[in-house]
Amino acid sequence: MGKIAPSILACDFSELAAEVDRVAAEADLLHVDVMDGHFVPNLSIGAPVVKCLRPRTDLYLDCHLMIDNPGDLLDDFAAAGADSCTVHVELGDPRPLFDRMRAHGMRVGLVLNPETPFDAVVSYLDEIDILLFMSVHPGFGGQAFLPEVLDKVRAAREIVDERKLPVELEIDGGINLETAPLAAAAGADILVAGSAIFGKPDPAQAARAIREAAWGAG
Ligand code: DX5
Ligand code: ZN
Repeated sequence: MGKIAPSILACDFSELAAEVDRVAAEADLLHVDVMDGHFVPNLSIGAPVVKCLRPRTDLYLDCHLMIDNPGDLLDDFAAAGADSCTVHVELGDPRPLFDRMRAHGMRVGLVLNPETPFDAVVSYLDEIDILLFMSVHPGFGGQAFLPEVLDKVRAAREIVDERKLPVELEIDGGINLETAPLAAAAGADILVAGSAIFGKPDPAQAARAIREAAWGAG
């Protein structure tokens, strides 16, 4: 059975703690989308919001950093209580960032954009806990799933299984009842979903339905 990571990007931010409570029973992680208006053409939230969430939930806080200078903010995210930070491989060699995340006791995530080839992350597989595949162009919720990304997920699944690496494969963007089974079949362990969960009247029920579509009723 895999994991569901509701993305709070799709929340009503004026009621953030209540939104988290609404989904908590069916969430394995909370996905926190951090955008700087430079790496992606949108602004969202940062470490101060993680700091406010931390005492309000026991859920794992999965921070996806869509920012030009993650190195400038890792200390803040660690201090705020992030369980992991996930950094984009498109920014260049992520190893110095990995070292700093480990030093803070955070788990280490690496993410690649839809157009970035799988080869760009292969050499880091031994050093990370989470490999995140963007299945939309990052920056906005509510976009359509890009199915060509599944080839990369399958390639990663094969290597991770063959080498028995403790890496979780996560996929982010356009996950809903139709695309969740495709992502799960390709080998994704963690499904991020924003609008397909918080866009529904009962977010917990929506998360459960996505989980069941992906992996069955368990
Ligand atoms: C996009 C973000 C996603 C976004 C997903 O840049 O990284 O996490 O919240 O939203 P949906 O599920 O609506 O595609
Ligand atoms: Zn994300």
